[in-house]
Amino acid sequence: MKTLDRDLLHHGDIHWQLRSFFEFNRFTGTEIREIAQVSVPVYENEFWTSKQRDCHSLHEISYRACYKPQLPDFFIQRFCEAGDVVYDPFMGRGTTLVQAQLRGCSVIGNDINALSSILVGARLAPPTPSDVEDRLQTVKQSARPVLREDLLVFFHDKTLAEICGWKEYFADRKQQGTFDNVDAWIQMVCSNRLTGHSRGFFSVYTLPPNQAASVNSQDRINQKRGQRPEYRDTRALVLRKTRSLLADPLPRGYSRLKAVLHCSSADDTPAIATSSVRLIVTSPPFLDTVDYEQDNWMRMWFCDVSVNRGALWHYRNLDDWLAKMTACFHEFRRVLQDDGAIAFEVGEIRKGVLRLENEVMKAAIEANLIPECVMINSQSFTKTANCWGVKNNQHGTNTNRIVILRKRKQ
Ligand SMILES: C[S@@+](CC[C@H](N)C(=O)[O-])C[C@H]1O[C@@H](n2cnc3c(N)ncnc32)[C@H](O)[C@@H]1O
Repeated sequence: MKTLDRDLLHHGDIHWQLRSFFEFNRFTGTEIREIAQVSVPVYENEFWTSKQRDCHSLHEISYRACYKPQLPDFFIQRFCEAGDVVYDPFMGRGTTLVQAQLRGCSVIGNDINALSSILVGARLAPPTPSDVEDRLQTVKQSARPVLREDLLVFFHDKTLAEICGWKEYFADRKQQGTFDNVDAWIQMVCSNRLTGHSRGFFSVYTLPPNQAASVNSQDRINQKRGQRPEYRDTRALVLRKTRSLLADPLPRGYSRLKAVLHCSSADDTPAIATSSVRLIVTSPPFLDTVDYEQDNWMRMWFCDVSVNRGALWHYRNLDDWLAKMTACFHEFRRVLQDDGAIAFEVGEIRKGVLRLENEVMKAAIEANLIPECVMINSQSFTKTANCWGVKNNQHGTNTNRIVILRKRKQ
């Protein structure tokens, strides 16, 4: 992983950089939109591409509606110096945080679902593969009674007994106060190997990979495919995935950087100090497009976490959603340093008819943030979308639409 590119940072302001961008041989399209009586430039280009193969292996865990590491990296490289604090208030699998820490920044993360801290914390302080191998060999699991027989549609009974054994092991270690970063790593990897479409997962074939099917729908998949779960060796699969996640070298001192992770609603984060953050790169839940609780139900069961009813935002009504976004912007403004920046990604929803970025810009202006511009990264091919069975340029998110904001210097 290269260090931050000082030339990018000092080569001109963000407008100049976006207007003159020509890395993939396309000129930037520019228009001016009038939003809440403010003229806002909109820049469109292929600013990063799915064809780039330079993402660190540590990113390779699945999470619904995650963005590619190129997205936060684009802004980290342009707005930060090593040591600056980067914050993601809706961190999900932690793409922003892992990328920022790889670039030598300090990170603060937040997500209302405690599952996120499990997915992210382990990858911000990873053990070595040999530590993991040693631990996998030393953990003794007696034959555990199967806790949830309904899950036998996904798992062979011996695999499910191992999964339940892992659950019990983590609970015991936490109770004894001996749960360490190696345990945290194994828990994170297990939760990502639960269900999927290949023999690299604990389950029988199931799709989609990062959206656990319900028991009933898995039953139907099994009948349709004439399949029954076979035994999977959970230890061997955890070790294999560990080696692949840690295949790329980590920058010196990566694990010594101290990340702080919170589990609050993004609009109310009193534990984060005022004026402490240089850059926020984030994407909120887009109205009601994803039900994060339903999506993660099996991982949450495995990790023994739950979310209070209604805490995960899932709004059908645009005004309700915007009221929450405005509250968030007030909070983001509080935690930002003077002249700090926000890159706020919203997807293309309702087949592109609803320009969510315009609405978001209005909410941000209301919270007294300075609108810099809207940046649209348009791609002709989206691998993730194909894997979801979503036809590109017809449904779902095909572009990244990013609202760029600043906090005014006082
Ligand atoms: C679009 S995802 C973020 C994905 C992330 N950018 C990544 O690459 O993994 C939105 C996240 O917002 C979280 N979330 C939903 N309601 C929230 C709230 N009120 N406060 C904080 N996080 C919330 C969800 O749990 C989900 O992880």
